[in-house]
Amino acid sequence: MDSVDFDALEGQAREKMPPASFAFCAAGADDEISAVENIAAWRALRLRPRVLNDVATIDTGVTLLGDRQPHPIMIAPMGRHKLFSVEGECATARGAAKASAPYVVASNANRTIEDIAAERRGAPQWFQLYYWPNSREVEALMDRAAAAGFSALVLTVDAPTGGWSPRAAREQHEPSPDILNINMPGSPMARTFYHPDFAGKVLYPATWRELEWLGKRSPMPVIVKGVLRADDAVRCAECGARAIIVSNHGGRHLDTTVTTAAAIGEVAAALAGKAEVYVDGGIRRGTDILKALALGARAVLIGRPVLWGLSVQGADGVAAVIEHLRVELVRAMQLSGTASLRDIGPDLIAAN
Ligand SMILES: Cc1cc2nc3c(=O)[nH]c(=O)nc-3n(C[C@H](O)[C@H](O)[C@H](O)COP(=O)(O)O)c2cc1C
Repeated sequence: MDSVDFDALEGQAREKMPPASFAFCAAGADDEISAVENIAAWRALRLRPRVLNDVATIDTGVTLLGDRQPHPIMIAPMGRHKLFSVEGECATARGAAKASAPYVVASNANRTIEDIAAERRGAPQWFQLYYWPNSREVEALMDRAAAAGFSALVLTVDAPTGGWSPRAAREQHEPSPDILNINMPGSPMARTFYHPDFAGKVLYPATWRELEWLGKRSPMPVIVKGVLRADDAVRCAECGARAIIVSNHGGRHLDTTVTTAAAIGEVAAALAGKAEVYVDGGIRRGTDILKALALGARAVLIGRPVLWGLSVQGADGVAAVIEHLRVELVRAMQLSGTASLRDIGPDLIAAN
């Protein structure tokens, strides 16, 4: 890959991907306001760096659900990686392992759980779950994920029905045997959420009742993804969630939500000591990661840039994207006088 300049990389990915794949990757709901504002919101925060601290050695190590990780950068769950690489999620998993990044594998993967697990090479893999109406099939799937060594279950709760994306609807990819949700036999999703057939249908009807049940039944710790409010986050923790991912799904479903940069502080404050907090949406720079950690996130997840890397250079492209962000994080920490994640707090962010 000749560049990890993300603007250039996105351009290369756009040239390489079939137009429908690029539309699926880039899509935000409606007017794409949240997708764009997520990025702008991190950029708009201003840092208050500390000086004269010893930053010769930087430690980006972090503990996630009791597991020590070398850095706080994870790969967000995203469906249908065969739209971006013939190897699909297996290439993503290899890239994640190379970059020592925990990889959250999507329910809507195009490779089997077991094939993806075979590429783990020591890096944690978590399984993202869409809760569809057949709870027997959901149970079987989560047991299968646990048996394959997945170490957490990430329940996505912000898309009971699909949002609408004019961009993705204009350029639908044709369903093919390759693009099936191979791990979800009962799921109706051979097409994307953005297909008109799904409009208005609640495909994933999880409620608080299902979360409580999952908290007891899941063989893996449960994480809830897609929370933007402190009250919901606290209730998730009370229902058994061990961690919360502050996310608006990259702006792909409900447009004009608060940005994740705006939501993370309130959620982190409410959850202190109750559950871990991670955040995604629009994180494109090491300084964005530093800001997310300063506002209370324990780790961040990266979405679209991973798919740009995957399409341009497969597993190596995925690894290069994560490694680039890690190097940027180290530099941002050195330049802000913070030698370890423990030193990163809200005082690093200017009030306005
Ligand atoms: C192509 C694509 C597919 C996605 N599929 C899923 C999914 O299946 N489940 C899920 O929880 N989130 C899904 N997401 C949302 C991501 O997990 C994540 O929240 C978002 O992409 C982060 O924002 P970013 O792309 O700006 O980094 C998807 C995102 C993209 C770009």
